[in-house]
Amino acid sequence: MQLTTILTSSLLLLLPAVVSAWSCLSDADAQDIVDKSIIFLQHRNITQAREVATELFSPDIVQYGDSINILRADPLGTPVYENATAYIEGTLAAPGIPNITTIAIIHDCNSLVFFWQFEGIGGPNAPVKNRVRGMTYQQMDDNNKVIQHDVEFNSYAWAENTGFQISYPETGTYAQPEEPPAKVRRSPRGARMG
Ligand SMILES: *[C@@H]1O[C@H](CO)[C@@H](O)[C@H](O)[C@H]1NC(C)=O
Ligand SMILES: *[C@@H]1O[C@H](CO)[C@@H](O)[C@H](O)[C@H]1NC(C)=O
Ligand SMILES: *[C@@H]1O[C@H](CO)[C@@H](O)[C@H](O)[C@H]1NC(C)=O
Repeated sequence: MQLTTILTSSLLLLLPAVVSAWSCLSDADAQDIVDKSIIFLQHRNITQAREVATELFSPDIVQYGDSINILRADPLGTPVYENATAYIEGTLAAPGIPNITTIAIIHDCNSLVFFWQFEGIGGPNAPVKNRVRGMTYQQMDDNNKVIQHDVEFNSYAWAENTGFQISYPETGTYAQPEEPPAKVRRSPRGARMG
């Protein structure tokens, strides 16, 4: 956390709840949360990533994400992780994200949206090397710890990179056209998925 955040958080412990409106994310706080999120997601240094995530997340953090549920074949709406330990250790056990680009950060007093682009999903031998774009909506508690984390992204692109086989339905509206209409030609990538 930024010094201002640390000071605000410390003051909050001493002051009555009525002044909790003082705890408002600055642009620098939001950038700091995103910087730490990136260290956690890349986890090039596991020790550092665990330290940063432990600082960032409330022990009671819940993560949601239908984009993950669908890949895991879990019912949509199922929490992905229900506490910080499960979230941190689950993420650190998975491959780190090689390349993360920040597209936008938008915040108010106690929440932020991080619009991102991941590259390198599936590793160097991925059958398809799609970029994966998505957004993370993080909500903070009164100590500026992340208490709820919602992530939604292009899970189809992620699935292709990680070797899922996805095909068109045989029949019906969404079946692959026999001959693409002249002006709406399918990309080579789209055609390969048949
Ligand atoms: C990894 O991070 C830890 C904690 O921040 C640090 O002590 C250690 O030196 C780092 N290791 C490397 C190889 O940078
Ligand atoms: C965290 O969640 C995991 C998985 O749901 C559960 O097994 C574990 O007991 C939880 N830990 C704590 C400290 O609540
Ligand atoms: C990461 O992705 C960005 C955006 O595509 C690109 O400009 C940059 O060169 C990449 N960095 C590495 C280390 O691959």
